[in-house]
Amino acid sequence: MHKNKLVVVGVGHVGSYVLADAMKTGLFAEIGVIDILENVAYGEALDQAQATALTYMNNVNVRSGGYEQCADADVIVIAAGPSVLPDPDNPKGEPDRTLLTKTNSAVIREVMAGIVKYTTTAIVILITNPLDTMVYIAENEFGYPQGRVFGTGTMLDSARLRRLLADSYDIDPKSVSGYMMGEHGSTAFPVLSHVSVGGIPFGELASYLQPRQDISDPETVKTRIISAAYDVLNGKGWTNAGVAQSAVTMARAVLLDERSIYPASTTLRGEYGHDGDVALSMPCVIGREGILKRLPVTLDPWESSKLGESIAFIQAAMRDAKT
Ligand code: LAC
Repeated sequence: MHKNKLVVVGVGHVGSYVLADAMKTGLFAEIGVIDILENVAYGEALDQAQATALTYMNNVNVRSGGYEQCADADVIVIAAGPSVLPDPDNPKGEPDRTLLTKTNSAVIREVMAGIVKYTTTAIVILITNPLDTMVYIAENEFGYPQGRVFGTGTMLDSARLRRLLADSYDIDPKSVSGYMMGEHGSTAFPVLSHVSVGGIPFGELASYLQPRQDISDPETVKTRIISAAYDVLNGKGWTNAGVAQSAVTMARAVLLDERSIYPASTTLRGEYGHDGDVALSMPCVIGREGILKRLPVTLDPWESSKLGESIAFIQAAMRDAKT
């Protein structure tokens, strides 16, 4: 009898949160844990297995092991690789993005090579940064069926947007609908032309709600959202809770065939005039077969210009990822 199975590849700061969050969903009967540090994978799996003896947990069969665990997986989340790498010539300066891209490109190629030995049907959700470049590699270098590999993309950036708007209007973020698009990183941009609060279009809100500070300028909102990641990073040295929950929320939409609309990172297939040359986030319908439908929403002039900046930024990173 098939049992709902998740495999988590990479259980560092992010992957261990993915594992913990997934354990608590009650959605998975089996969870496989893979890490290049086998002792860490074993310890994370055992720690969670011991927790299942507590009343609030369902009895998940959680094990560590190799990629053979992917053979009967429904969903695979990839959080392998470092999240930041210091510049070797200036360790106290800005992290080295090029080094991170080169390092994690090799990591993702190794992980995907391991996965495709056992499955090309599991839905693969990537978290590893630089995310969009990693998605492009995973989607286009291993013959994986289109739509069955995607990235968390601007799912977390969109949560940060909804949090910011909710705080500005003193309302529940779950009453804010909308998203960031483009790159998961410094060029992500808010699509305010498609934001609504309680079903009220963002442009008409002033008749109903007054914000605590002026957030009508999209450039200001963009800056606030991008800096939100650094606020966490500078506070605790990494980020994990938000992106882990992003991945588990997407995994639930897959497993339950929810047909939820989330911003997911995927290779463009003709949208916005790009076909196969870049991966980035746009709203997608997500269900049991992965990305069921892509929704290339119309963008206003400012949003269109930001999309162009995002594409240029991602394609520069992709050049660093070439073997
Ligand atoms: C962040 C990391 C996951 O935005 O890139 O928190």
